Amino acid sequence: MLVTFSALTALCALAVQVQAISKVTRTGRYLYQEDGTRFYIKGIGYQMQGERHESEDNHFGEPGTFIDPLADAAACRRDLEHLRAASINTLRVYSVDSSLNHDECMRLFSDANIYVILDLTLPVIASIDRTQPSWSTNMLDVFIRTINTFEKYDNVIVYNIGNEVVDRVQSSLATLPFLKAVARDVKAYLKSINSDRLVGFGSTFLDSPGNSGVHRSIAQFLSCGSEETSIDIFGLNDYTWCGSRGSLDQSSYRADITQFADYNVVAYFSEYGCTDARPEPRPWTEVEVLLGEDMSVAWSGGVAFNYFPTAAVNGDFGVVTLSADNTTVTVSEEFTSLGERYGAFNGPNSPSRDSVAAPTYGTCVAPTGASNTLPGTPNNEACSCLLGALSCRPNAAAVADADLRAQLTGEACGLLSRAGGSCDELNGNGATGVYGRAAACGPDVKLAYAMSSFYEREGRNAQSCNFGGNASLNPGASPTVDAPAAAGTCVPSPNAAILPALSEPSSNSGSPNPAPSAGNDGGNNPPANNNRGNGASGSAVRIGAFAFVSAMSAFWVLA
Ligand SMILES: *[C@@H]1O[C@H](CO)[C@@H](O)[C@H](O)[C@H]1NC(C)=O
Ligand SMILES: *[C@@H]1O[C@H](CO)[C@@H](O)[C@H](O)[C@H]1NC(C)=O
Repeated sequence: MLVTFSALTALCALAVQVQAISKVTRTGRYLYQEDGTRFYIKGIGYQMQGERHESEDNHFGEPGTFIDPLADAAACRRDLEHLRAASINTLRVYSVDSSLNHDECMRLFSDANIYVILDLTLPVIASIDRTQPSWSTNMLDVFIRTINTFEKYDNVIVYNIGNEVVDRVQSSLATLPFLKAVARDVKAYLKSINSDRLVGFGSTFLDSPGNSGVHRSIAQFLSCGSEETSIDIFGLNDYTWCGSRGSLDQSSYRADITQFADYNVVAYFSEYGCTDARPEPRPWTEVEVLLGEDMSVAWSGGVAFNYFPTAAVNGDFGVVTLSADNTTVTVSEEFTSLGERYGAFNGPNSPSRDSVAAPTYGTCVAPTGASNTLPGTPNNEACSCLLGALSCRPNAAAVADADLRAQLTGEACGLLSRAGGSCDELNGNGATGVYGRAAACGPDVKLAYAMSSFYEREGRNAQSCNFGGNASLNPGASPTVDAPAAAGTCVPSPNAAILPALSEPSSNSGSPNPAPSAGNDGGNNPPANNNRGNGASGSAVRIGAFAFVSAMSAFWVLA
């Protein structure tokens, strides 16, 4: 009894001594802790691999599903001691389900002084698609729900708006105006709830011999114009240092120092850890340089990729293995080496916070292939108005089925085009800066727009609003208002930036929706966006640029 009692007393005394995690904030282009010490990210990717999404556009082998790593308390407890032993201070998490409970994982990590960089995107259903970009109400709702769920945790430092959205295909640069619009809107939302968490983006490494400055121009565009439209922290997924073959000059690190010498916001490696020198275990010799004097002028550490087993074309990026029942973890030699490096190097504690000047935001120069004109804020009120006014709408079953929805939209647009009409209002073009009036609405509204346009073009013949039994007439629509007219009334300006708001109050996040209810039009909301953490399928959460990175790293080593 006595023993138990003293043990308890000791525990209580210990508990009292646990201090809240130090808040990390940005001053200019650096991160600082509360006491003014410069903060460097000693991070690791912390997400199990989802299932590969089968699509011909999926060059990176990106997953279509995800497993929320912050909702499994037993797993977080299992991993905690290893993360601490490796001096890891930040986890990068790529997708979470805002309807789940994250309290225990977040508390465990916070108590251990481990921060979280959280990507707001979900595979396929809530990320900017690089071939058909759109920043729409359904994505906005997912992002706001995730923010509302995670705002209560004191160890979230960054919300990422995307990862590797621009790839080597030239046309993907047209996603940039969308990404900048997402940054603008997420920042406005955070400001409206008095949050000072940072907004970030993780970029593909895009330079190649003879073609440098590509990702630097993306970094510039995302941090240009004004504080309100800029990211706070730019991540580069840099896999150019390959094990013992790597060095400052053999990798891109020298170029990283030069290119980002005058960058205005924080920069870090949002992924690193080339596996090309396998079977040699990664020695993580780059950590000393990444956290060294030269790099520290512009860079604030990085995120080693990846904790969990992560199969890719050029090997497995994981540094631990799990037992068959998931209850125990075995760390690899690579993990131990990474931990030794993280433990040994801290990064210079300079410049001092007081000496850092306020950042300047340069004139925006969109890279070739991207427009300076951004799409508007997804506006739930406007999209609800539009849906309410459209003459022909998909039935609930079609709305609920993402694949069927996509198929029917293709069919309706095909029919419309053969009838001399077009689905232009559904699309935004980030290369020309022309955004359709329904482009920022959810897929249900887009489908209704296409169906209605066809039905109206066919002289409102009831047979034209059938689509194999997937659609029906909207009794509330005016017979004299067609789809373009409805869009003109409900969405007068597709480029307008407004304060973002949810379509309906969040019912599952456990925290109130603090945004003004601009998105509430009195119950005429679109049918459920049905994209809350169901992790459907498609080309989006970008964990690792495997195939591409491998090709690039080979370049660097050969060059
Ligand atoms: C181990 O965890 C993964 C990810 O959560 C899960 O898919 C798998 O079913 C688990 N295995 C067991 C035996 O619980
Ligand atoms: C809906 O559309 C799909 C695709 O054209 C079709 O296969 C299906 O039969 C239609 N009807 C219903 C009720 O699902």
